[in-house]
Amino acid sequence: MENNRFVSTSKTLTDVEIETSLRPTTMAEYIGQEKIKNNLNVYIQASKKRKESLDHVLLYGPPGLGKTTLSHIIANELGSQIKITSGPVIEHAADLAAILTNLNQNDVLFIDEIHRLNKTVEEILYPAMEDFALDFVVGKGPSAKSMRLKIQPFTLIGATTRAGMLTGPLRDRFGVICRLELYKENELQEIVKRSAKILNIKIENSASLEIAKRSRGTPRIANRILKRVRDFADVFGKGEIDLSITNKALEMLEIDKRGLDNIDRRLLENIIKKFDGGPVGLETLSALSGEDAMTVEDVYEPYLLQIGFIARTNRGRIALQGAYEHLNIPLDKSKKSELEIFENN
Ligand SMILES: Nc1ncnc2c1ncn2[C@@H]1O[C@H](COP(=O)(O)OP(=O)(O)OP(=O)(O)O)[C@@H](O)[C@H]1O
Ligand SMILES: [Mg+2]
Repeated sequence: MENNRFVSTSKTLTDVEIETSLRPTTMAEYIGQEKIKNNLNVYIQASKKRKESLDHVLLYGPPGLGKTTLSHIIANELGSQIKITSGPVIEHAADLAAILTNLNQNDVLFIDEIHRLNKTVEEILYPAMEDFALDFVVGKGPSAKSMRLKIQPFTLIGATTRAGMLTGPLRDRFGVICRLELYKENELQEIVKRSAKILNIKIENSASLEIAKRSRGTPRIANRILKRVRDFADVFGKGEIDLSITNKALEMLEIDKRGLDNIDRRLLENIIKKFDGGPVGLETLSALSGEDAMTVEDVYEPYLLQIGFIARTNRGRIALQGAYEHLNIPLDKSKKSELEIFENN
């Protein structure tokens, strides 16, 4: 179901097309994530100065925030080649060994969805990351010998939406761990303006801001909305995107003022109406919304948490005042003061 949503954060086929053209290629073009950029810039300069490979980097955070993009940028800024693969694609230890032995000095190996590597494949990575070596056993029984093969120093960049699913030994081998944050409104507006320029679209300031507000903190969604609004402008407007055509397009796409769609609203309504505002356990919530728990946690919740519509407590999820207001559901006095106390702490 998640994948049919217009505001789905996961990638669709049309996204792949436009994302390639809209993807920034240098750190300077990459908007937002200032802390991460500043740190990475220092590490990149330092490793270039020492002519050493950059420490291994783990990028984690919700889908569509720019992990893949950033990996390409890092390789680009290092002046290195990037090899791209992903956790579920590497089935056998030998596949990974082959990739690793083919790397050139200081290359970047990008493993997307790194939390989905299987155990035997993952174990190949440990000595590779730590000592730039592959360990393997030759022969069987008492005559078996373990051998070590040196490989070129390289930088592993791992990307995941679920850092919590990484094993300890793997996680510990990353020298640089970056958590990408949802983007702020002004950053998303910048992204929309930049994309519009590349796509040769004229857009008013108020319209780019409106798209930013409804993009759930996610560049992928901002770009997707921009494309659709352009279609509306081409058909109903003068070609230039203004606020009224933007509002109209978003209304037809059923994305509300805060970027929520029907599934988000139902999720909030469930917490409020069926559970008097919560707490509701993740499993219950996922059963009610027909989405698996992981999707609820990775895709829906980050944004609802960010805008202060829900909170996580150790007994489950609760709806906050913002959610009641947004859905126009009256809050009785005692509930209101209960929430006020909670929200002010
Ligand atoms: N900081 C940014 N500045 C400008 N554009 C960005 C930025 N981050 C992402 N984008 C845009 O958003 C699109 C999606 O980003 P990307 O594919 O890198 O996300 P991701 O985190 O790898 O997602 P997933 O978890 O689904 O793999 C990019 O093609 C790019 O156009
Ligand atoms: Mg990606």
